[in-house]
Amino acid sequence: MKRKETITTIKKAKGNRKLVMITAYDALFAKLFDGIVDLILVGDSLNMSFRGKNDTLSATLDIMIYHTQAVCQGAKNSFIIGDMPFGTYTNKEEALKNATRFYQETNADAVKIEGGIEKAETIKYLVDNGIAVMGHIGLMPQSFRGEGGYFVKGKTEETRQKVLNDAFAVENAGAFAVVIEGVKEDLAREIAEKISIPVIGIGAGRYVDGQVLVWSDMLGFFEDFKPKFVKQYLQGAKLTKNAVQQFADEVRNGLFPETKNIY
Ligand code: KIV
Repeated sequence: MKRKETITTIKKAKGNRKLVMITAYDALFAKLFDGIVDLILVGDSLNMSFRGKNDTLSATLDIMIYHTQAVCQGAKNSFIIGDMPFGTYTNKEEALKNATRFYQETNADAVKIEGGIEKAETIKYLVDNGIAVMGHIGLMPQSFRGEGGYFVKGKTEETRQKVLNDAFAVENAGAFAVVIEGVKEDLAREIAEKISIPVIGIGAGRYVDGQVLVWSDMLGFFEDFKPKFVKQYLQGAKLTKNAVQQFADEVRNGLFPETKNIY
């Protein structure tokens, strides 16, 4: 089993090894991923795959804390990050109050916040008050309704400059790492080369310091959403449906339980 990461080892990874992050929402899967990946993110993406909603916006702090507690119960060797949900960090005092709940009510090692320049003051305030913060820039799912959809960033000079400035702002504010989502590969590469903290990509191409995927996408359990950037490593939904179908058939045909399953 590998040693658990710390803020220091995560920062030192830059330029030396790729960081691997996966999401998890419960103890069962967190335990399976534990120690294989460096970091586990309790992402608010759970609102879509786990709660069946259309976007992440209705995930509440209580929901995120509940899932983070479960993940912390299952994973003891990976570094755990709790995602601050929409509306819980609109100003720095509110952010500190809510991030403090993550630290006091779960064993999360850090929190993640979406936003660049506009959230820099908040990130700095959290860091100054002892909270480890991972940034999240580029395509920010919590801006889905505000922006009217999900849009890849970096296709125009204006969005390139915005994401680049966001990266510098998050770094200067004291984040220990930053997720960069849904951006052109050359922009992600430029950012990874220009900032000193690890850049963890999702839909950001090859030239970043690590990769993150949502577990239910990469294991093929979430069938509603198949973005280009996801590689499916397992056909989870198909395998599960086949197994449940087999169970149903065997019960209906009197083939289960077998004698070995009977007391
Ligand atoms: O909520 C989430 O799962 C995330 C990842 C997409 C990085 O923020």
